[in-house]
Amino acid sequence: MENAHEKILILDFGGQYTQLIARRVRELHVYSEIVPWNIPAETVRNDLPAGIILSGGPSSVKDEDAPFCDREIFELGVPVLGICYGMQLLASLLGGNVAKAEEREYGPVTVRRTALSKLLENIWSESVCWMSHTWQVTECPPSFRRTAESRNCRIAAMENEGKRLYGVQFHPEVTHTEEGETLLENFLFRICGCKADWTMEDYIGTAVRQIRQAAGETGRILLALSGGVDSAVAASLIREAVGDRLTCVFVDHGLLRKGESEQVCSVFSELFPVSFVRVDAAERFFRDLKGVSDPEQKRHIIGRDFIEVFREEAEKLGKFDAFAQGTIYPDVIESGQSTNASVIKSHHNVGGLPAELGFRELIEPLRMLFKDEVRALGETLGLPAELVRRQPFPGPGLAIRVIGEVTPEKVRIVRESDAVFREEIAKAGLQKDLSQYFTVLTDVKSVGVMGDERTYDYTVALRAVTTDDFMTADWAKLPYELITHVSGRIVSEVPGVNRVVLDVTPKPPASIEWE
Ligand code: XMP
Repeated sequence: MENAHEKILILDFGGQYTQLIARRVRELHVYSEIVPWNIPAETVRNDLPAGIILSGGPSSVKDEDAPFCDREIFELGVPVLGICYGMQLLASLLGGNVAKAEEREYGPVTVRRTALSKLLENIWSESVCWMSHTWQVTECPPSFRRTAESRNCRIAAMENEGKRLYGVQFHPEVTHTEEGETLLENFLFRICGCKADWTMEDYIGTAVRQIRQAAGETGRILLALSGGVDSAVAASLIREAVGDRLTCVFVDHGLLRKGESEQVCSVFSELFPVSFVRVDAAERFFRDLKGVSDPEQKRHIIGRDFIEVFREEAEKLGKFDAFAQGTIYPDVIESGQSTNASVIKSHHNVGGLPAELGFRELIEPLRMLFKDEVRALGETLGLPAELVRRQPFPGPGLAIRVIGEVTPEKVRIVRESDAVFREEIAKAGLQKDLSQYFTVLTDVKSVGVMGDERTYDYTVALRAVTTDDFMTADWAKLPYELITHVSGRIVSEVPGVNRVVLDVTPKPPASIEWE
């Protein structure tokens, strides 16, 4: 039960790092909830949290329509930590002053402690912090004192220790702030008195209750399985909540990697049995992709067909009350939506299936999680490690790893060669060192000689990259012996291939995928 845990309430002022704050709190094993900035103090009082964090945000407190939280929040006796805009808000509401900084600070800045403080305990007297602000506090409110400064920001941290109100101009939640974690630990454990006892099992408990509430006593839920990690984790979590009132439709477009389709079927019919429908739609996808070689057009066709096949199947299955999908936090960011996220958000579709499908509820239980948290959740739920630890795989599947027109024969070549590559990477124990690795079927045919015969066959490229965020990437320096072995196996085991090349381009200038 989450009530057995102390809760940290995060008031969201629209900052780009709000979810990151929640994530850091979760990492420290404390339960947190993100709520809109205008939550009434009375609501907070009725379910008193152990502490409150005011997030950053794009506004200035001097804006006419600046988001100001209920001032009574500071009278609840609950510790408050204001971050960036949150600190400026504290100052502004409690009688301090905020002004435009003479020099805008952005990026790593050395912050110096100027007074002893519980919040800054065990932190070096000088430490690199991440700043991103145009405005800053120029005068502390009465009864507050300054506890840190930087070269361009005289009040980089301030506090009223008696009332347990704290503000920092920098962002402790981003990893560039060297001692951000220690600062958050100080706030959670020394100031709010939290215990580090919240776990992924607790997340499951909370999500299960919310899913049950959204679905009602008898509601039936429909979920589209893509074959990927997110929808599989969402499905097993929802099954935990409503059992076989969950129906999963797996649209198999015939463009998955070797063994994946079979794995999805066995997980959801044997390991986590739900009402499970697999639609073998490969023929339709191949038909619609015939003659198409433009990558964007391929993506468009695959996206459209996926929705159409799913909709046709859903209509056959009768009435559903809710629709579920495995939207995760980076999807929410990429689609440019507000960060006012809750575990489940109704009627709020993120670029997946269209809202016109006409369900009463939209259930997105992973909406506040980052990818690595989704994987950890999947493992806690008991999904096989080879499913949840999978490398990223694009929605349009192998179609964008076949350069040019997609045919079943070409997909077979890329699928088989990819399986060989993956198998050898696993044997060499290199999976953990690589972010993504796969083969690409180039559209190039070349002359070769095999068993005294002239051949004229395809060229397969090996692509392996290391990256933290997939925005930039470096090509992986694979051992020569491994490359030699993979090349030999592909040419001898995959008919239609007589040449293997290695992609040695970083991103940028290349992208990770070839299309
Ligand atoms: P690029 O090729 O842009 O890829 O460097 C970055 C990451 O995104 C994945 N990717 C996609 N994922 N649909 C997806 O769901 C797509 O159309 C798509 N294109 C690229 C790619 O695999 C890599 O992880």
